[in-house]
This record gives sequence, structure tokens and C-alpha cells, in this order.
Amino acid sequence: MSTKPCILVTGGTGYIGSHTVVELMNQGYEVIIVDNLSNSNVEVLDGIERIAGRRPVFENIDCLDYPSLDRVFCEYPQIAGVIHFAASKAVGESVEQPLMYYRNNLGSLVNILDIMQVHQVRNIVFSSSCTVYGQPDKQHLPVDETAPIQKALSPYGNTKQINEDILHDCAHACKQLQVTILRYFNPIGAHPSAQIGELPNGIPNNLLPFVTQTAARLRDKLRIFGDDYPTEDGTCIRDYIYVVDLAKAHVKAIERMLQVPEREQVEIFNLGTGRGLSVMEIVRTFMQVTGVRVPYEIVGRREGDIEQVWADPKRANTVLGWKADTPIADVLMSAWNWEKKLRGIN
Ligand code: UFG
Repeated sequence: MSTKPCILVTGGTGYIGSHTVVELMNQGYEVIIVDNLSNSNVEVLDGIERIAGRRPVFENIDCLDYPSLDRVFCEYPQIAGVIHFAASKAVGESVEQPLMYYRNNLGSLVNILDIMQVHQVRNIVFSSSCTVYGQPDKQHLPVDETAPIQKALSPYGNTKQINEDILHDCAHACKQLQVTILRYFNPIGAHPSAQIGELPNGIPNNLLPFVTQTAARLRDKLRIFGDDYPTEDGTCIRDYIYVVDLAKAHVKAIERMLQVPEREQVEIFNLGTGRGLSVMEIVRTFMQVTGVRVPYEIVGRREGDIEQVWADPKRANTVLGWKADTPIADVLMSAWNWEKKLRGIN
């Protein structure tokens, strides 16, 4: 396969980052990863290499380290675009350590944009989140990109909103800059090869890693946070999107930036399936497809939880020509296969 342009991926050893690196490499892109390994490990590179058949360039650099980041851009003048994943992402932690979140998540983007300008790199894809919509009103469900942004419920969510503002402001100031903002819904699952997947640190906050760890008997039982929401079965509803489908959307976004000159300068896409599933549906379906029991109990609501949100992904479907269509059974199975691989379960 002929080599395509070179893409710098910050946070490229992380969960969504590593899956995206694989998809970029599968499509022939040259990839440079910048990651400080704060929430990932270097063995992820072996997994990527086993899947893609080659190893991406890896630079162990913190995006707050301006001189080192600048050196990467000097060393690889062929960089055609940046996908910026690197960020802290634990909602609860952000409430306890807001400054760490503001410093890390805002400072990293500011450095990247500054250095991109110095080196005349014009394309950036930014990882945002459906968290910017908060709890949309009923008339905005499923939520599309025009739904109002609501006041963030956590410093983490606020960093996503502020970063979107920073990108808009920079695009306004510099007409050469091209921006794609991707608002992710709830990414789950792992690569079908089980060579890469999510590596939660300590006790998982997110539903799926908790489910798979409970199935693997690392946890006694799953706690389901609330069954008294005004939804069909009383549990919260989310749009769970397969991480490999999500990764592929990044390749489409990069392709569009590099090949479609008439695009808008800043484009925003919701990345979801368009289907809302309840916590209970996820747990039941997981047990059905894997045949493994997941003990659970219903406990009180978790503070700050959104009741229900799912995407209207039409814009991404039509403009990017991308669709998240992996069946949920396959997605849940991939999550379980990854957990089994991690724990050495047959
Ligand atoms: N849940 C449980 N038990 C658990 C974990 C989660 O019942 O042990 C429930 C939650 O209450 C929620 C659903 O599973 O109803 C999904 O929870 P996650 O923590 O997996 O995902 P969230 O939608 O709460 O969080 C995600 C991202 C955040 C982002 C947030 C914005 O992980 O980064 O969406 O809404 F900020």
C-alpha cells in the first residue's frame, strides 16, 4: 500500500488513540504518536504492531512540554495533521483536582495549536464529548450538533467546552487553520484481535470495564446507579459506540480535511450510533452473548449522571460517509475477549 500523509496522534497509546492509530496505519498513513504514558503503557505499541504489521514512531512526551513537542515538529516536517486525544478524562478526579484538569487539558491544546502555527501544520481533529450537551431537553433527543451547549457539570466537561472555544477562536484568527471537532458518545469494546483495548487504572468508573471485570471475578458485583429514572426500565440511557467504529471516523475526518477544500473551516460531528441503550439492557445483553453471569445490585443514583442521551449521527453519516454499525452483541463480545486476554482466562 502506498504511504499516505503523516499524522501526529497525541494520546496515541490511550484507549481511543490506539484504535485510531491502527485504523490510520491500516489505511497507509504514517503515524507519529506523542504520549506521556500517564494513563497507558508502552506495551500498547506491541499490540498496535501485531495488528498493523508495523510500528508507529513513538515519542514519550508530555504535551505541556513545549520544547520537546516543538522538536517533534522540527524532526518530522512531513506532519500533515494532528489528532489530539491526549487529555485527562476522569470526571470524578476532575472535581477533586480541577487545576490539574485545566492545566493539562487546556495547556496541551494551547501548545499544540501554537506549535502547529509555527510549523504551518493546518489540520487538527479534536476529541470532544457529548458531555457538552449536558441533559438535552426531550425535544433535542436524539441530540444533533445544533443542540445548545449547557453549563458543564464537571471541570473535565468544562475543559472540553473551553477547548472547543479555543479552537473556534484560533480558526477565526487564522484562516488557514482547519478544525474538526468530534463529540464522542460512550465508546466501548476492544479491537477484534484482542491485542489492544481499554486499560482502566484502578477501580473502573465506566460501565463496561466494570461489567467485564465483574464477569472476570475481579469485582464482587456491579452496582447499577439508580433504577428510578423516567426511562423504560428505570436505568440511564446512553449511546454506546464501538471503539473501532469510532476510530474509523477519525480516518474519515482526516481524509476530508486533506481532500475536500470546500469544507467549512470548523466542522463538528456527533459520533454515536443513534441508538440509546439502558444500563440494564447492556448488562443483560452482555450476559446473553458471553454466557457469563454478572452479579449486580441496584444502588442509589450517581451524582451528576445524565438521565438519557443518545446521538443523532446523521451529519457524520452523510458528510463524513461514516456509520457506526457494528452489532452490540459483537461489541460486548470484543470487550469480554479483551478482558479474558488481560486476565489470562480461557
Ligand atoms: N454505571 C453504573 N455502574 C457503574 C458505572 C456506570 O450503573 O459501575 C452507569 C452510569 O450510572 C451511567 C452509565 O452506566 O448511567 C454509563 O456510565 P459511564 O460512567 O460508563 O459513562 P458516562 O456516560 O457517565 O460518562 C461518559 C464519559 C465521560 C463523560 C460523560 C459525559 O465516560 O468522560 O460521559 O456525560 F464526561
